[in-house]
Amino acid sequence: MADQASSVRSISAPALARRKGSGSPIVMITAYDAPSARIVDDAGADVILVGDSVANVVLGYADTLQVTIDDMAHHVGAVARTRPHALVVGDLPWLSYHVSVPDTVQNAARLVRAGAGAVKLEGGRKRLAAIEAILDAEIPVMGHLGLTPQSVHALGGFKVQGRDLEAARAIVDDAVAIAAAGCFAIVLECVPDAVARLVTDSVDIPTIGIGAGRHCDGQVLVFHDLLGLEERITPKFVRRYADLGADARAALGAFVGDVRNGRFPSSDETYHAADTVADEIALYGRGGGTGAVQEAPGVGAGSQA
Ligand code: KIV
Repeated sequence: MADQASSVRSISAPALARRKGSGSPIVMITAYDAPSARIVDDAGADVILVGDSVANVVLGYADTLQVTIDDMAHHVGAVARTRPHALVVGDLPWLSYHVSVPDTVQNAARLVRAGAGAVKLEGGRKRLAAIEAILDAEIPVMGHLGLTPQSVHALGGFKVQGRDLEAARAIVDDAVAIAAAGCFAIVLECVPDAVARLVTDSVDIPTIGIGAGRHCDGQVLVFHDLLGLEERITPKFVRRYADLGADARAALGAFVGDVRNGRFPSSDETYHAADTVADEIALYGRGGGTGAVQEAPGVGAGSQA
């Protein structure tokens, strides 16, 4: 059954498209669960991208090819249930829009029913039929050109794209085609800034860059990269604004130390019975009771009591 979380949002795909040329750069940040979505929304991002990067960043896979539409709907639902002000864009995973047009529309609808206000897919002119069918089902589509990670094998690795004139022209032609088809924005990933500038000047919808330089209408980065939670690889285009991985290790290490040294829990962190009851319980224990103690309702793991 539908896991629909929200139907009215403050930022819509058409509103985002109208930001082109406004001089107010669009900010998109990934999130894959409710706590990160709340943080991204509170920070004032315009768009929360539930990216298929969840595969590498959160689920431990080596590339994005492993995640399915079920995985994506699960994560979109978690983000959308926080009812963010930002537009929630759900990434269509590999093979969810490559097999048939009806399949493509059903898969895009899965993400909308999970709470997305738009979907994103990778590729240019090759994907026009998919884009048109999704748009025909009244679902806004964000494009994604340049380094398209779902094509990692076809591209021969995660490499900067559009480095020569022919490749740059192909990216521009793809952008013009998907903009004309009705995409409301285009992600440009890992292309030289001159290519990003030409694309941005060639289309009347916003471009959102990642590793594409400053001449885009907006920028996107991955939550875990921005915050230093992803420490294994740091691409050149990532700016780290915090070192939460190190902070988390230090905090958890302190907890480990406190438990091992008997410093946790303190009396203040403990539920106490009234003195008389405590005495009775102690007596009962010494008298050889069953040892079975009934836990009070609401006084269990994670209780706020
Ligand atoms: O999946 C993702 O996080 C993305 C961004 C890199 C744009 O597609």
